[in-house]
Amino acid sequence: MVFFLFRRLREFRSNAVAEFYLHIRPLLEDPQVQELGNYIQHNCHSRLNHCLDVAYCSFFIAKLLGWDYKSAARGGLLHDLFLYDRKENKQKAQGHLRRHPIIALENARKVCTLNKVEEDIIRRHMWLVTLVPPRYKEGYIVTFVDKYCALREAIISYRNSRRTLALSAGGAA
Ligand SMILES: [Fe+2]
Ligand SMILES: [Fe+2]
Repeated sequence: MVFFLFRRLREFRSNAVAEFYLHIRPLLEDPQVQELGNYIQHNCHSRLNHCLDVAYCSFFIAKLLGWDYKSAARGGLLHDLFLYDRKENKQKAQGHLRRHPIIALENARKVCTLNKVEEDIIRRHMWLVTLVPPRYKEGYIVTFVDKYCALREAIISYRNSRRTLALSAGGAA
């Protein structure tokens, strides 16, 4: 029984990866989305990687629950579609946490036609920092997956900086 469930989950996962890319491929080919690869997110890896992580995890959870997984994937991929580095752009850094979902939504509308779930996912993904919660259940998946991914990236970044510090201290000794 356990073996059967394990096999089913493995099948589900391998099919899910192929289906995920089927839904997001047209968006991934867009030059604006590709440009996300030029920005670092949470001092860890590229913003494109962050968006792909959020999109895939959200897609997987929504698919398991039988919810709108296509919108979860597309909204997740476009949720941080802003093309600036807030550390280098002091003007954009002001109010960034609250403003970037609006900027991402404006940019996403130029990439493709969004449905109302995808629009809401992008606009409300900073809920808890912003006051208005998502309107659709898929939005809750993306907002919590985003926070989980951001925390994981912050931990990786912290570990990397500690390792670099230890190595440079070792080299200095
Ligand atoms: Fe964001
Ligand atoms: Fe994010």
